[in-house]
Amino acid sequence: MTILVTGGAGFIGANFVLDWIAAEGEPVVNVDKLTYAGNLANLASLSGDKRHAFSRGDIGDRAFIDALLAQHQPRAVVHFAAESHVDRSIHAPGEFIQTNVVGTFTLLEAVRGFWTALADDRKAAFRYLHVSTDEVYGTLGADDPAFSETTAYAPNSPYSASKAASDHLVRAYHHTYGLPVLTTNCSNNYGPYQFPEKLIPLMIANALEGKPLPVYGDGKQIRDWLYVGDHCSAIRAVLAKGRLGEVYNVGGNAEMKNLDVVHALCDTLDRERPRDGGHRKLITYVKDRPGHDRRYAIDARKIRGELGWSPSETFETGLAKTVRWYLGNADWVAQVKSGEYRRWIEKNYAERSAG
Ligand code: NAD
Ligand code: TYD
Repeated sequence: MTILVTGGAGFIGANFVLDWIAAEGEPVVNVDKLTYAGNLANLASLSGDKRHAFSRGDIGDRAFIDALLAQHQPRAVVHFAAESHVDRSIHAPGEFIQTNVVGTFTLLEAVRGFWTALADDRKAAFRYLHVSTDEVYGTLGADDPAFSETTAYAPNSPYSASKAASDHLVRAYHHTYGLPVLTTNCSNNYGPYQFPEKLIPLMIANALEGKPLPVYGDGKQIRDWLYVGDHCSAIRAVLAKGRLGEVYNVGGNAEMKNLDVVHALCDTLDRERPRDGGHRKLITYVKDRPGHDRRYAIDARKIRGELGWSPSETFETGLAKTVRWYLGNADWVAQVKSGEYRRWIEKNYAERSAG
């Protein structure tokens, strides 16, 4: 038995591959294009482990995916591969359409072909799990109820629109062809191996260098935060016990204003790695993101009630683990801050310096 994971060299995908092999021991075929966000160093601890087979390639390459499916005969596909950063989608949306929409479509077509030809027992047991985001539901007002699985889609960024399109394709492949799909829509993840372009690792990386901590707009935007290990356990639960064709919202029950997240980080760093004057002094307000969603919140009652899943970390315990990981992995951080990373940081923050 084998599962095929796409995007397994990225942040959540790599955490999932490590977690899967530790928890299930079942072999993984890991397909990743190794864009700027993909990093084989995330999987270094699996070096020499026969249960992990890495294959570099694009989910949009039909012949490549067909050959992998034929060779490895997976019993399930878990699809993480995507362009994932909202700010990059504002600067250059094309790649988001290519990978998230056309890539997911190509993967679905390849999987449909593979699945259709399976013998009945393997066909019945097969699963295709699509990893998506709460951002497809758009933005909430302060008093609105949290996103549930029946909330209407209203994506506001090129990133969330491309993810919404891919979710719709997955849904259609179930209704039209009977493909045994499952979809998860999860809130903001944080934890080890997250590329330092996203809020939490960017703030940690900047703070450690004594650089400004750039808070967009008024810093009062709200996100729900989930420790990545809890997202991995949710995906395992949905893969094992989820009802076919169903959507499961996954959240950390941890709604926070961005400024409160940054304050919590500064306070944690003050304890772990004190600096003169404290880290909060580094906070700088910068120009807001265009179309910035104000609030996300997740109603996770369905996955809790049906599958018995709930997060095991609180924001405080997850953040402490995350900060310690970044402090203990300075080499990883230095390695990912490549020329490409520096170019992105210049592009994204230079234009915000007006404040
Ligand atoms: P990431 O950007 O860290 O990793 C994406 C991975 O996909 C990289 O390894 C990259 O090389 C690979 N990839 C990109 N294009 C590819 C292609 N065409 N073919 C093959 N591989 C390709 O992203 P992440 O934060 O780990 O997110 C993983 C998934 O989870 C995404 O689908 C994202 O939408 C979803 N998600 C993320 C969050 C979050 O907070 N990060 C929350 C909810 C859902
Ligand atoms: P991000 O980590 O990019 O995730 P998403 O946009 O998918 O929620 O951003 C999280 C929040 O933090 C979002 O409201 C934007 C804000 N933010 C900043 O204030 N400063 C930053 O430098 C970054 C990257 C994000």
